[in-house]
Amino acid sequence: MSETEPSGPAPQHVAIIMDGNGRWAASRGRPRAFGHRKGVEAVREAVRNAGELGVRHLTLFSFSTENWNRPAAEVEALFELLRRFVAADLDRLHDEGVRVRILGRREGLSEELLNLIASVESRTAENEKFCLNIAFNYGGRDEIVRAARRAALDHDGDLSKLSEADFTQYLDTAGLPDPDLVIRTSGEHRISNFLLWQAAYAEFVFLDTLWPDFDKAAFERAIAEYANRDRRYGGVRHG
Ligand code: IPE
Ligand code: IPE
Ligand code: MG
Repeated sequence: MSETEPSGPAPQHVAIIMDGNGRWAASRGRPRAFGHRKGVEAVREAVRNAGELGVRHLTLFSFSTENWNRPAAEVEALFELLRRFVAADLDRLHDEGVRVRILGRREGLSEELLNLIASVESRTAENEKFCLNIAFNYGGRDEIVRAARRAALDHDGDLSKLSEADFTQYLDTAGLPDPDLVIRTSGEHRISNFLLWQAAYAEFVFLDTLWPDFDKAAFERAIAEYANRDRRYGGVRHG
């Protein structure tokens, strides 16, 4: 078998750290926002390709709790892109049976954005064909702390009987399977506070491709690499 020929099933849940928009733009002498706009096109393509490649859940990291450290104009541009993505794509995604969820911290978001998020989620809540999760204002540590606070409130402060399965119900990803594959583009080899709890046994594939260049061939390469991994979950080799 060739090194890239898949030998296992497609990952059910793929999560992507979409990185490299700024470098993509800089290499063309353009402002970072240009790279982010191009990045949205890569998002559309990735959603389409995920379905074709047999993936059922796609989680995209689009704004981290640490991205507030960027210049205000860039932060605003990233927020505007989320609004425009919803305005331009929601009808089509809904018609295609896509359930859209927004993961992340709600505090700090404007009333208008909160309304938008609520309407996107409620409108697509019954869709079952494909699940698109957008991690926006998301940080893994922040998610775990918010979950712990809510769990404590629900249990009158006594978490002594709380199981892992109980705890996951308080995470933003409640009800979703853990990611099988986490892809990071742009050549950086770090997790940057993404899905810290959920990625405990995910396979990681790091690509040098910058996010705006992430096309079907890149997605296929990542999935082929995943399919040749041997997931052991702390046990012994599976045949
Ligand atoms: C996109 O890439 C990721 C986001 C935070 C939206 P970057 O904006 O981080 O691009 P680089 O890493 O600076 O190239
Ligand atoms: C991670 O990328 C966050 C998103 C993709 C939204 P960053 O570019 O913010 O991560 P660092 O700063 O390189 O770790
Ligand atoms: Mg980056």
